[in-house]
Amino acid sequence: MTEKVKLRAFEQEDIKHLHKWYNNAESIFMVGRTPMTFEETEQLVFNMRNAGTIIMGIENNDEELVGWIHLSNIVQEHGRAEIGILMSPDYRGHGYGKSAMKQMIEMGFNQLRLNKIYLTTRGINERAIALYKKLGFILEGSLRQHSFIDGKYVDTIFMGLLLQDWRNM
Ligand SMILES: CC(C)(COP(=O)(O)OP(=O)(O)OC[C@H]1O[C@@H](n2cnc3c(N)ncnc32)[C@H](O)[C@@H]1OP(=O)(O)O)[C@@H](O)C(=O)NCCC(=O)NCCS
Repeated sequence: MTEKVKLRAFEQEDIKHLHKWYNNAESIFMVGRTPMTFEETEQLVFNMRNAGTIIMGIENNDEELVGWIHLSNIVQEHGRAEIGILMSPDYRGHGYGKSAMKQMIEMGFNQLRLNKIYLTTRGINERAIALYKKLGFILEGSLRQHSFIDGKYVDTIFMGLLLQDWRNM
């Protein structure tokens, strides 16, 4: 079956879109802290690239940029990396996130020789957790009251996917 999205290099000119996505209320709730300026968003991307993060833009079949996805904290000796994703608020719930995650996971295992891909997410992020479980990520631990969101402490959960499990799915 053809995929709903494709991954391509994330370009400098894409940052203006990322800036909007980050300042969406749900994004602030689920991944952010407070609204960010364009310059802060640029700096974030610069810092990530400097740290060796692989960043891809997610494009739908109409060639619209609908999100970004990245592999960070790549430790080649141990064969592991952390995955992160943020979709444009206009394109959430279209199956794009799932398709992009599958392709980034394949890239991690097939191009980067990873053995494990892991992530953290806020325990309140039901949509993201449902997606990660569908992809085979397993809950490895919970960091209690790790974030303060909208006046409440919430847990952060840690999930991991091993190459052997991905291949056996
Ligand atoms: C979380 C996110 C990446 C998911 O991407 P998406 O494109 O919206 O998700 P999809 O449409 O691919 O849906 C993935 C699965 O989640 C499930 N799902 C969708 N919405 C859901 C909801 N509100 N509650 C529970 N499960 C839900 C669907 O069942 C779907 O699986 P299916 O295709 O087998 O039916 C995206 O919504 C997003 O960027 N959210 C804001 C930022 C964020 O939370 N990032 C992740 C931080 S860890």
